[in-house]
Amino acid sequence: MAASLTRTALRASNTRLATTHSTFAARQASPIFRRFLATPRGEQPRLRIGSEAPNFQAKTTNGDIDFHQWLGNKWGILFSHPADFTPVCTTELGAFAKLKDEFERRGVQMIGLSANDLGSHDKWISDINETSNTTLQFPIIADADRNVAWLYDMISAPDIEKLAREGGIAFTIRSVFIIDPAKKIRLTMMYPASTGRNTSEVLRVIDALQTADKKGVTTPIDWQVGEDVIVPPAVSTEEARRKFGAENVREVKPYLRFTRI
Ligand code: BEZ
Repeated sequence: MAASLTRTALRASNTRLATTHSTFAARQASPIFRRFLATPRGEQPRLRIGSEAPNFQAKTTNGDIDFHQWLGNKWGILFSHPADFTPVCTTELGAFAKLKDEFERRGVQMIGLSANDLGSHDKWISDINETSNTTLQFPIIADADRNVAWLYDMISAPDIEKLAREGGIAFTIRSVFIIDPAKKIRLTMMYPASTGRNTSEVLRVIDALQTADKKGVTTPIDWQVGEDVIVPPAVSTEEARRKFGAENVREVKPYLRFTRI
């Protein structure tokens, strides 16, 4: 019942989306326009945890960027959205904008992506600021041609199959890529268009990654800053006691050791 309600709501939302973008849809039907706005089909890099984040050049609401130059030597989060002027995306961008200070405190730059052009993004940002009572400052990539969405595989399987069958232009899913100062992909999340993300979880995993890097530890289920962390298997209990202080290390099993940091 719940699943069918969700599907019905999503169908209704997609119908509204199609109506809102009727000009766009009409253009999509035109083979000439499709040639210019087809999702690119070149080789797609295989993105794994530890892969270098692919570089690209793009237009954003804060000017043209070369992604690697924009990252510099800081952490970055690249997150995608299906389309401007859609409800879930509007709430998500508003929530990320409000957390600017939290991301900055962790040394993380944010960059959004939505599959529309700059003119549309600028108008949409006004709506986001109004509805979330915020001032969105990070750049949003104008990925109307899906170049970045294709490069980062931000496209669902049914859409890939549809592209192969019919060509045209694919829908972008909700992806999150957390990239470290060495430009390595450290964590990814993939959500369908129907499900909004959780900003607390994004901040939590950034804290976990940065703590692991700084302290040489791992973090258990549901870990939050301030809680005990795990001594990794490669570190003996003796070494852990020397490193973190004997009084801080707790051995539950020989392979399950916690420590305060
Ligand atoms: C949205 O609400 O953001 C949305 C929902 C379905 C498809 C695309 C966007």
